[in-house]
Amino acid sequence: MQVLTTVAAVRAARAGLGDLGLVPTMGYLHDGHLSLVAQAKGECSAVAASIFVNPTQFGPNEDLSRYPRDVPRDLALLEAAGVDLVFTPEPAQMYPAGFDASIVVGGVTGRLEGAVRPGHFAGVATVVAKLFNIVQPTRAYFGQKDAQQSVVIRKLVRDLDIPVEIVVAPTVREADGLALSSRNSYLTPAQRVAAPRLFQALSAGQRLFDGGERNADILRNTMRAMIEGEPAMQIDYISVADPLTLQELSTVEQQALVSGAVRLGATRLIDNVILGEPPA
Ligand code: PAF
Repeated sequence: MQVLTTVAAVRAARAGLGDLGLVPTMGYLHDGHLSLVAQAKGECSAVAASIFVNPTQFGPNEDLSRYPRDVPRDLALLEAAGVDLVFTPEPAQMYPAGFDASIVVGGVTGRLEGAVRPGHFAGVATVVAKLFNIVQPTRAYFGQKDAQQSVVIRKLVRDLDIPVEIVVAPTVREADGLALSSRNSYLTPAQRVAAPRLFQALSAGQRLFDGGERNADILRNTMRAMIEGEPAMQIDYISVADPLTLQELSTVEQQALVSGAVRLGATRLIDNVILGEPPA
């Protein structure tokens, strides 16, 4: 496995790699990341991963300085998973002095996470576009847990004609339903016990829908009430939205992205489920 830290070195190595899958990460890897690597290995002749805690996607009061990091462990996991190339740049490699560009994807970034975290998706879109330009993957792999991020990245590649196929893989969960996330490491033991409540609420919304309920307010109110039953949890939003535009729905006709963001102390958790079948 090649571990490279400069744009020039990645460009040189990429030339020999053929059909390449990229798994972009901010490190502190868990089984969710490794499932993306496994899927990429099954679909591409070579796999690259990036490890970069991207400062531009963190707001001024967010957790950039305390974001968990363990690059030696990450490299051992990626090597064991059969990754061919890892790009681990320093911030100055990605954002050299004088760096001034930013990619703003409109529309879908104004809602949900974008409303609570202004500027977050400009940071994500910019770094992902840079990673695509540097690594030039055939396919790039993202997790469904960050549903809005996947919508933004699909729009980014479509609107800017970036020749990368975006693959979104299912969320990997703990046995009690909690979606795997590097930020779960922040949770105290008591918060960890409370944390599955978000997925339990989303699953209750799913069951109501499966039972025939189509009124989005009833779904939202049911999920909100379940979360409000957990005193340690504060709701940022509970949403029943169109999966492509992310606009809130009044009725679920065909498909909906049901997503939520909550706070447990200083830790923010997000999760989602998809209701219904995609349009034929
Ligand atoms: O999902 C993440 O880990 C990050 O947002 C990404 C896509 C690696 C960009 O920094």
